[in-house]
Amino acid sequence: MSVEFKKAERIQKLPPYLFAEIDRLKRQVAARGVDLINLGVGDPDTPTPAHIIARLREAAENPANHRYPDYEGLLAFRQAAADWMERRYGVSVDPATEVVSLIGTKEGIANMAVAFVDPGDIVLVPDPGYPVYHIGTSFNGGTSFRMPLRRENAFLPDLAAIPAEVARRAKLLWLNYPNNPTAAVAPRAFFEEAIRFAQRNDVILCHDAAYAEIYFGERPPSVLEIPGGREVAIEFHSLSKTFSMTGWRIGFAAGHADLIAGLGKVKTNVDSGVFQAVQEAAIAALTGDLGVVERLRAMYRERRDVLVGGLRDIGLACDPPAGTFYVWVPVPRGLTAAALATRCLTEAGVVVTPGNGFGEAGEGYIRLTLCTPVERLREAVERLRRLAL
Ligand SMILES: Cc1ncc(COP(=O)(O)O)c(C=O)c1O
Repeated sequence: MSVEFKKAERIQKLPPYLFAEIDRLKRQVAARGVDLINLGVGDPDTPTPAHIIARLREAAENPANHRYPDYEGLLAFRQAAADWMERRYGVSVDPATEVVSLIGTKEGIANMAVAFVDPGDIVLVPDPGYPVYHIGTSFNGGTSFRMPLRRENAFLPDLAAIPAEVARRAKLLWLNYPNNPTAAVAPRAFFEEAIRFAQRNDVILCHDAAYAEIYFGERPPSVLEIPGGREVAIEFHSLSKTFSMTGWRIGFAAGHADLIAGLGKVKTNVDSGVFQAVQEAAIAALTGDLGVVERLRAMYRERRDVLVGGLRDIGLACDPPAGTFYVWVPVPRGLTAAALATRCLTEAGVVVTPGNGFGEAGEGYIRLTLCTPVERLREAVERLRRLAL
């Protein structure tokens, strides 16, 4: 007798996986022996700096680190995170009550909804956006209200356009700057407006700052450095992109003590924190030579200039990213995002991501990543030139 394992509704309700077709085509093209250039993945191609690896090696030898960590993180790690916030933003947070360690920001983003979203609550999410804001909401019975990010509004959500009833019922407002996938950076004035919106509507302002250190102009602001931010906001920081540490799974949240405590409460119940040796290595990252971050920025800047220059040269007009390692490219008239992505893959062996995979408002764009050396980016442009777009 066969047993039917019916999946929970929250899994059945997951949005369709829009990259399935691209994944299938990728396998098909690779099987033909085509040397694919992957501009689809947002995962740094450069190794973690040596001093961070050395610290992990040492810390892994210490038997004290082989035991369960504290779910909220070593106080020394939280202190290093607090010092980072002071050094980078002039923001002083209490490491004991206003910082919590995370197993990557993805974990914290998903658990924020477990801590604060009840069935029927509304969560304001950017569209296009990192999918976890919506998925965390949906897993916990909430409803996402999508805020379109459009070029004519500098890829900022129009908070004034949110209906009063929606704003009243909203529990969380998700923002993410520097932004994945549009590569926009938000000015201080926008954060001031978002803080006023949060105060007026009793909404928790959640700022995902995973790309905080990848910028090409002025340093992007922390929401916590803006007056009023400390009273309404929580900010998510990741070591993943800043130090090329995506595989290590470490980040932190900083902000209002009640928000940190709520997130911490979830973590005591569902996970047991980050391997302490990884936390020690993260301390080495946060307190060590920041020249490594400067060099990563310079590397992405060079790649950005090569790719954007090349794309413009072949007739694909696009704005140079202000931050992140993404390039958000408008699709030429007459094509959809999926159709262009398919042509790039099947006719040029270049993997790109169709923008509607990040939400409906992403239709009309493709996203390219800068996690590939310049020579390969140049080659990608040459191959795309043959598509005569
Ligand atoms: C906008 C955004 N936020 C958060 C994350 C998660 O990063 P991590 O869990 O590695 O800190 C990503 C990863 O791609 C991202 O693009």
